[in-house]
Amino acid sequence: MINTGKNREHWANRAGFILAAAGSAIGLGNIWRFPYMTGEHGGAAFMLLYLLAILLLGYPLIVTEIVLGRASQRDPVGVFKVLAPNTPWWLVGALGVFTGFVILSYYAVVAGWSLAYIYKVVIATSNPGIDHASIFKNHISGVWEPIIWQAVFMIMTVGIIAAGVVKGIQRWSTILMPILFVLLVILIIRAITLPGAEEGLAYYLKPDFSKVTGRTLLAALAQAFFSLSLGMGALITYGSYLNEKDEIPASAAWVAGLDTGVALLAGFALFPAIFALGFKPGAGPGLAFITLPAVFAQMPLGTIFGVLFFFLLGIAALTSAISLLEVVTAWLIDEKGWSRRKAAACMGVVIFIVGLPATLGYSVWKDFSFPGLNTDLLDTYDWFANSLFLPVGGFFMAVFTGYAWGIKHAVHEVNKGHKAFAVGTWWTLLIRYFVPVMIFFILAIGIYDTFVK
Ligand code: TRP
Repeated sequence: MINTGKNREHWANRAGFILAAAGSAIGLGNIWRFPYMTGEHGGAAFMLLYLLAILLLGYPLIVTEIVLGRASQRDPVGVFKVLAPNTPWWLVGALGVFTGFVILSYYAVVAGWSLAYIYKVVIATSNPGIDHASIFKNHISGVWEPIIWQAVFMIMTVGIIAAGVVKGIQRWSTILMPILFVLLVILIIRAITLPGAEEGLAYYLKPDFSKVTGRTLLAALAQAFFSLSLGMGALITYGSYLNEKDEIPASAAWVAGLDTGVALLAGFALFPAIFALGFKPGAGPGLAFITLPAVFAQMPLGTIFGVLFFFLLGIAALTSAISLLEVVTAWLIDEKGWSRRKAAACMGVVIFIVGLPATLGYSVWKDFSFPGLNTDLLDTYDWFANSLFLPVGGFFMAVFTGYAWGIKHAVHEVNKGHKAFAVGTWWTLLIRYFVPVMIFFILAIGIYDTFVK
């Protein structure tokens, strides 16, 4: 039984869509991944490349994904079956669904760390002189504890998806995003007023382009895709719950703007503190979990703020994780006729199992490393998903929209509905030429730099 879209659930209002899409975009990618990627790739130069990628590649592709979903009223595989029947284009959607599996599997691991830190941060802030790096190392190498929190996080994700689009996704995104924002601002104020913060600000704001390589370019592109939830059909899926009268260009700008804003703010919360407290910015995936507790330890009522912060980080992760599970769930509902509950629950279990190696990569499998990448298993999942599958997905979505579906058709579809502004020639040129060429070029030199050079 194929779902034809007649009984499809839709967002209750425009704000519901924007907050859900922003909730998907704003997550660990902004607060956990962006700062450590910036730290590993040389600071301000990376940040500028990331901003360029958002503006010139990210925004046009957000519009593309949303319109593909709205025009077809289907999941990422169904989109291509509706718009280009009997062609192999559906494989682009299939790659997206697969990528959703991979990302959520390790996303739940990091989200689990955040949940555990809701109480771990108390230990970290109430013992002056404690070694923050070793608290984190002990936690992630502890086998059972991280696995249990990973499972708890998956159960929460499944619960929300099982509740549906409006009662699950929209409701949770609307309440929790604003609170995270307020906390972030408080943290920034504390971080930039620490003695010695200037050095971190300089690192974050003064670009040094001599450190930019093909790897850096690819990392900035991957960060833009990951942070915007782009390239695997999460926004196709959310777009498929829009009606024809809903507008696209301005909503897409809101999503991109909110997401970028929160990432930049996270940098202001971390870098001044990292330098002021004598940490190294290149600490990798542990950066936020090591540095932020150290900041909390130095502020009045730090324990309370620490608990609140990791609670909210877990929530931000949750509003992102649901968009990943929703892609896989929508595919099973639309293409295979499964019930929402069954699809969410079964996929939750499978994704949890797929994620176990990412957790165990910090304990029993810590010696494994993929040739050329030299990182742990979690980072290996991350590299393949974000540096390879997402850009490849984005490339083909642009080519599909620009050539196979037809750009005139696409422009017409985007501009349907109430709108603050329309897309025109600039969007056409970006989607047909600039986006595919740039993605191809960055992927090629990034992969060459990583594996060949
Ligand atoms: N954007 C989210 C974050 O920054 C992660 C995420 C959610 C995502 N859905 C996605 C990434 C789809 C890529 C594709 O934390």
